[in-house]
Amino acid sequence: MSASHIPHHVAIIMDGNGRWAKSRLRPRTEGHRQGVEALNRVVEAAARAGIERLTVFAFSSENWRRPAAEVSMLMKLFAQALRRWCEPLAEAGVRLRVIGDRTAFSDTVREAIAENEAATAGGTKMELVIAANYGGRWDCCQAASECAAAGLEMTPENIGRFMSVPDVDLLIRTGGECRISNFLLWQSAYAEIYFTDALWPDFGEDDLKEALRWYEGRERRFGRTSEQLRNGG
Ligand code: FPP
Repeated sequence: MSASHIPHHVAIIMDGNGRWAKSRLRPRTEGHRQGVEALNRVVEAAARAGIERLTVFAFSSENWRRPAAEVSMLMKLFAQALRRWCEPLAEAGVRLRVIGDRTAFSDTVREAIAENEAATAGGTKMELVIAANYGGRWDCCQAASECAAAGLEMTPENIGRFMSVPDVDLLIRTGGECRISNFLLWQSAYAEIYFTDALWPDFGEDDLKEALRWYEGRERRFGRTSEQLRNGG
């Protein structure tokens, strides 16, 4: 695939961990564990493919509504993964950043985030953005507040400067559901959206490549007509 067709910013809604586990008569927690392994594979594959930024939805602002034991397990898994990934990400030149409202996290999780962000700060190959306690509506509100605090007029350009991440080129959702679930609402305004039935723990490099091939075939018009695009307009 030519470099000009590689999306700069890919975002993923990693859905299907629970169903993956249930179909194997295993606890949901095992599905989340395998979800972390899938994320490992996809980060490596995305960096190899030349993607500049990969944003993944690890925990939504609504996921606190899940059973307390599952939430607590997800938090533990998050902190463990952040610690485990410090070295390999730094070695691979991947810079990690967490977006979302961190105030609700425990000290352990906040420390693990800070540790990883500091260890990987020098990475220039790819940025891995983990959305945790994140909601698209929250992001719009915080950006609007920052915009107002900076004394700027509320224009799409000015608000856009304060969003947690820039616009998305390709949004992938695994697990067969066709919705955005309050992920990157603002940033997905012109994203190409790819839905796949694959459950997240089964997702790997071949699946990512298939999504990239699909993306390559899309015509991104941003409001223009096909004819205008053909004529270079
Ligand atoms: C959706 O599957 C997945 C989540 C709510 C959590 C996503 C978390 C991971 C992939 C692993 C953790 C990531 C990090 C960075 C530690 P679901 O439980 O909604 O699946 P279901 O729809 O089949 O029930």
